[in-house]
Amino acid sequence: MCGIIGYTGNKDAGPMLLESLKKMEYRGYDSAGFGILHGGALRVMKDAGRIAEIARKVGISDEKGNTGIAHTRWATHGGVSQNNAHPHVSCDASIAVVHNGIIENYQELSSQLKAEGHRFASETDTEVIAHLLEKHYREGNHLKAFQETAKQLKGTFAFLALFDDKPGLILGARKDAPLIIGVGKGGNFIASDIVSFIEQTDRVVFLKDYEIASITANKIEVFTFDGEPVEFAPTHVAWEASDISKKEFAHYTLKEINEQARTLSAALDQDEEKINEFCITIKNAKNTIITASGTSFHAGMLMRYLLAKFAKIHAQSILASEIDQEIDLVEKDTLVIAISQSGETADVIGAVRKAASRGASVISIVNTAGSSLTRESKITLYINCGPEIGVAATKSFTSQLAIIYDIVFRLAGLEEKRAQLRDLSKHVEIILSQDTSIREIAKRYKITSDFYFIGRGLHFPIALEGALKMKELSYIHAEGLAAGELKHGTLALVDAGTPVIAINPGDETYDETLNNIAEMKARGATIIAVTDKQNQLYNDVIEIPAVDSVFFPILEVIPLQMLAYYAAVERTLDPDYPRHLAKSVTVK
Ligand code: AGP
Repeated sequence: MCGIIGYTGNKDAGPMLLESLKKMEYRGYDSAGFGILHGGALRVMKDAGRIAEIARKVGISDEKGNTGIAHTRWATHGGVSQNNAHPHVSCDASIAVVHNGIIENYQELSSQLKAEGHRFASETDTEVIAHLLEKHYREGNHLKAFQETAKQLKGTFAFLALFDDKPGLILGARKDAPLIIGVGKGGNFIASDIVSFIEQTDRVVFLKDYEIASITANKIEVFTFDGEPVEFAPTHVAWEASDISKKEFAHYTLKEINEQARTLSAALDQDEEKINEFCITIKNAKNTIITASGTSFHAGMLMRYLLAKFAKIHAQSILASEIDQEIDLVEKDTLVIAISQSGETADVIGAVRKAASRGASVISIVNTAGSSLTRESKITLYINCGPEIGVAATKSFTSQLAIIYDIVFRLAGLEEKRAQLRDLSKHVEIILSQDTSIREIAKRYKITSDFYFIGRGLHFPIALEGALKMKELSYIHAEGLAAGELKHGTLALVDAGTPVIAINPGDETYDETLNNIAEMKARGATIIAVTDKQNQLYNDVIEIPAVDSVFFPILEVIPLQMLAYYAAVERTLDPDYPRHLAKSVTVK
């Protein structure tokens, strides 16, 4: 969840790195820092707090020097403090390091280094990298020092280093954490996130695990951890600078909610050969497991329902973090379908690796090109929704659903439904136009302490997703549950004025869910219905267009996203950066 960025070129690195760090704020952080090389001196400036404040305090905009590294830290080992912020330096401060990941053997390494006389200034795992580099650099070869250091580290890491006697040079290494080179004009970047430099270049080189990059303003070299040169060819990443501006919207989250009319269609633009191969792989599988985390898991639940309902294919959906409990069911003829917006979620990467080690095949549905999950997958379908900056998944979820529906209808031979899928975008616009009334509802409940989201059948995963959005954006406790489960316990919690979001469109679940609504209403609940039908039991109605009922889930989640967004805004929270959360959970 940390963000790392390096720049070396013909411009001052300080201002360039500051802009890059700001683009990575969405990943979540608690401290930040810079390391700048200039005239043989290596200056490290860092602190806990917000990037803008740190930058002002250290005067980074006026800092001279064309080579530098920078970091946003999301604390894992060691508290939030200036000392624990990155960059970390060697004893003689001649080497500076920034790191994303977790060094699992750092205690053993730091004890050994301390016994050899190294002095540590922080409580972090990262600092061992700076001292290992210092130890191995004594032989005078910086690349060899990098190789020796990288080989001694266990865990997940992407790290960058500067050496004060190597002006213009940045070295980077990766294992199980993303590291991408941005090939610019007059300068090069290396970062954990394309978003950090996309405004400067869309030509990228995705480093693979166990690779080291050596970059200067006009030279890029890649090596293995054993020092073997690696051939590489820059590719163009299909994102533009405009993708990462908020445009006229107050927050990225609102912008991305509003992009869904367009992104739904983009998700359906797939390479025919690849999506057919994806479908055949599912069709031929003996045992299929869908695995994911968070919002992507809710997409996986819906995929399981749709495969059963339309393609008569049985699949299990198992939380990536829980897969150990059922890993014994995974055999060589098992197919694992992994769903992940970032493609970097540690739980998901861990789950597919465990499954693959037992002989399973892995295919995936991902947003971020070149992400780790794509390298673990036989086939990857991209949802093409562009960078999703808001921590809360919105457009990526409906794009995941669009692809999932298309896959299921292909497997079921339902060509007319595939055509209808393409028509949904116009209905999304109708929902988005209810902005004001949804904000009104959010305002009315902004001080509530609990929300309940109920849904039946295909609406149950959407109830879970609506609750997750409300929790992570507004910090109001919210519970999503299958409407049929109410009488099995949760009904006891319903009191006068308890707000219930009832997903109750006019399909085969309508009547039974209406009974559940009546039971809650009879005990004082206030009913906010998401539906295409009116009923006197509803206190408020968020209307969705009357479409073929199978498509309701894709549409009905959008007002739930808007409700959660406005609840956050009404509670003067920042929807883009929810506390304690990160966009990509790259640690377990
Ligand atoms: C969803 O709004 C959250 N940001 C979170 O649950 C997220 O869906 C989860 O961490 C999985 O992320 P991924 O899709 O990138 O794997």
